[in-house]
Amino acid sequence: MVLDIAKVRAQFPALALTDRGGPRVYLDNPAGTQVPQIVVDRMVSALVDSNANMNGNFRTSREATDISRQAHLAMADFFNAKSENEVIFGPNMTSLTFMMTRVLASQFSPGDEIILTQMEHDGNASPWRIMAEENGLIVKRLEFDRNTYEIDLGLLDSLITPRTKFAAINYSSNILGTINDVKAMCTKYRAAGILTYVDAVQFAPHGAIDVQDLGCDFLVTSAYKFYGPHQGVLWGREELLNRLPAYKLRVVKDVAPGRYETGTQSLEGQAGTHGALEYMQWVGTTMGQEHLNDNPNHRQRTREIHAGLKAMAIYDRMLVAHLITGLQRLPGIEVRGITNPERFIHRVPTVSITRPDLVPSELAKFLDEHGVYVWDGHSYGIDVIEWLGLQDRGGVVRIGPTHYNTVEEIDTALSLIGDFVSRL
Ligand SMILES: Cc1ncc(COP(=O)(O)O)c(C=O)c1O
Repeated sequence: MVLDIAKVRAQFPALALTDRGGPRVYLDNPAGTQVPQIVVDRMVSALVDSNANMNGNFRTSREATDISRQAHLAMADFFNAKSENEVIFGPNMTSLTFMMTRVLASQFSPGDEIILTQMEHDGNASPWRIMAEENGLIVKRLEFDRNTYEIDLGLLDSLITPRTKFAAINYSSNILGTINDVKAMCTKYRAAGILTYVDAVQFAPHGAIDVQDLGCDFLVTSAYKFYGPHQGVLWGREELLNRLPAYKLRVVKDVAPGRYETGTQSLEGQAGTHGALEYMQWVGTTMGQEHLNDNPNHRQRTREIHAGLKAMAIYDRMLVAHLITGLQRLPGIEVRGITNPERFIHRVPTVSITRPDLVPSELAKFLDEHGVYVWDGHSYGIDVIEWLGLQDRGGVVRIGPTHYNTVEEIDTALSLIGDFVSRL
């Protein structure tokens, strides 16, 4: 069944808003998505009905404790984790990653090596570079091909040495849209005894994540990119999470996930994150039935959430094909990412464009005047931008549709970009 776009859009209150009488076209989704009503409802209920700190002996506190437990259970299903003890909530991906650098640094010795891909968002680069600098570690780069915008995994064999201890992996690039073969990378790293840390922030809204199948050690994401509130979530192998050092208060029980969830957590954020997963589940059960039995061994809720994400991904690919075809018709526009339709399965719908005489911020401002929201610049993907030599050109214009956008919205954006370009 195809996605019923009218039904989907009706879930998102922000999609009905207008400015100066015209609709808003949200193509800034790689920077943050809109939220369905159920997310708002879950957050309001957490703040109104059950607003207390956790673990007290009274009604609202018991409810708050349950909100957190339910959110951990739901995220465990989202990740297909073995247990909810493997799910750690935190403020955002970047803060969780900085925390993990402190945890993991204790495992490495001066002269050890770490590998980062050239596709990392800085949230999965700078924290590890700082860790390396502070501990005398050597940083190596797994480059991507500047023509295909993909990583040749053959390169990994020449980078891995007996001193390699850790690898940061980008699941999907926030600039190029490329989806990396995380499973194949993890297989190689695991065989060499190397710990893996996957940044799934950009992939999470566009595909089903299965941490057991990927074979990674840690995977991190952010709910505000997958239709939830501003909230980070980290998955880690339970055995590692209990064995590694945790920087915790004396009074906190020394077991995962609590030993890493420092201070009072955003219970409304956890409630809203749970709401985002309920939304995906709804998409799965109402519009993704053909995917429900893809993995009969998965828990029921995992199958439903994943079915929703798969239905969204099919729609995403239709949108991105339309967008890229339209962009390629515009004179001089270069798409900085995979454009071969046969490889679209290896990209999310995030599309970055350049043209030598086009100033990205000027195009973004022009589109904003017409209610079309896109991002311009480096979007914190500075390693990608530098590797493409775009740092002095204002980066790229990033057009990021997601499953609630329409073909008509893409056409509006294309026509405006066409107008802008014709006047350069
Ligand atoms: C690929 C990727 N990684 C990490 C981040 C950082 O996430 P957060 O804002 O939750 O720290 C982002 C944010 O845009 C991102 O796109």
